[in-house]
Formats: sequence, C-alpha cells, structure tokens
Amino acid sequence: MAKTYMIGNWKMNQTLAEVESFFANLSLENNQNNFWISPQTLHVQKCITLGASTGILIGSQNCSDQDYGAYTGEVSTESLIEMGGHFSLVGHSERRAYYQESDEFINKKIKKSIEKGLVPVLCIGETLEQREAGDTFSIVLSQLKNGLINIKLNNEAELIVAYEPVWAIGTGKTASPEQAAEVHDKIREKLREIFGELGEDISILYGGSVKPSNVATLLAQKNINGGLVGGASLKSESFAELCAACSL
Ligand code: PGA
Repeated sequence: MAKTYMIGNWKMNQTLAEVESFFANLSLENNQNNFWISPQTLHVQKCITLGASTGILIGSQNCSDQDYGAYTGEVSTESLIEMGGHFSLVGHSERRAYYQESDEFINKKIKKSIEKGLVPVLCIGETLEQREAGDTFSIVLSQLKNGLINIKLNNEAELIVAYEPVWAIGTGKTASPEQAAEVHDKIREKLREIFGELGEDISILYGGSVKPSNVATLLAQKNINGGLVGGASLKSESFAELCAACSL
C-alpha cells in the first residue's frame, strides 16, 4: 500500500528566527518518518539539527544532475546526504517556469538522486491554459513518462510523485477532490505501466493550496497519498494539523 506523506515546501521563505520558532512550537503525533520539510538550501543544516527530535526528515527544493565539479551554484546530492538530508523536490513548476527546467534535465536529476540514495519528489502539473484546452492528462502523463525514462527502482520508497496543477499553486484555488482524483488515477495507471506492481505502491501527493480545511477530503481519495504544501506549511500549528490528517 502507498504510504501517506505530508511534505512542506517552504520555497524561499522563513528567516532563521522563524525556522527556530517553527521547530520550538511544533508538536507532532504519530510520526512514522512521513512528515518532511524542504527549507531553502541555506537552512537545510539548521533544520536537520532542530528537526531531529521531531522525527521530521529534511530535504532540498532542487538538486544537481552532476556528481561534483565546476557547476557554480548547484546543490550536490552527495553533500546533501552527507549532511543528513533525505530527499529533494525535482521539477517543481516554479523551476520549470522560471529556470526553464526541461523534462530531460529533470530526468537526469531523478537518476542522480536515486543513484546517490536521495528520494526524488517528482513534481508534475498542467497550467490553466493547458487545462482549459483539454490537455491536462496528456501534459501530466508526458511529464511523468519523460521524467521517468530509464529509471529503475528497487522499492517504492525510492520515488514520490507530486501532482500540482500550476493554477492551484499559491492561488487559494484548490482542485476539487474529484478533479484531483481523476488525474491521480491516471498517474497511478501510468506508474503501473512503467513499474509493474511496484507502481501500485508509489505515493502520489497532491499539491496546490492544500490547507487544514481541505486536506481531509483530498486525502479521502483513493490515489491521493498525501500533500505537498507551500503556504500552509510555514506555521507549526497549521503544519501539525496537516500531519494529523494523515493519520485519520
Ligand atoms: P501552495 O504551494 O500550497 O502554497 O499552493 C504548493 C507548492 O508549490 O508546492
């Protein structure tokens, strides 16, 4: 069965003082290593130290497709693991849109992460124009398929997929549980096609204006196995409420 995760994507937010106060005020129950946070890279080390007692696993929002060397500004998968990092978001729509990340580049990052032992969270999703043109399934499934070309998995815990409709990110417009569920069902089908039985157990998270008030109805859908949350993950009370919904 696919495990349920709650992942906070802090983007380029939080001062160091806010990070400290987040962990100081956080109280979580029933943490099965499934509550994760990706702070900005410069805060990863601090979050690993502060988060240790809460059982929260820490990752980055991006990683390099290269081992090491002359790649100015990149985030090394090896250094992240050495530091105690557990995962990396890959192909978030903001990186696709603002930094021109292609499916091919994203595929290389997924390969590198898995090779090094970092869990990639592959983010996919359509824009409003693509949805209105009736292209949601074709866009989402091609991002999925291209991101996963020649990826081999030993077990389902090595990869997480996050469906995030671009029009729902940071806009307050969440996809309805039905809208999200029909895309998640298609993603599940494709994962089965690519990975066989293992595809049944890979977690598929929903992201896009998830908050404590809508998380339960989203998680009630068969193939929605958790959330990737921006805004509502920044405050400890709200993040704790989102995590609590995973155990319902
Ligand atoms: P949001 O962001 O929850 O603020 O919409 C989600 C994301 O970008 O991962």
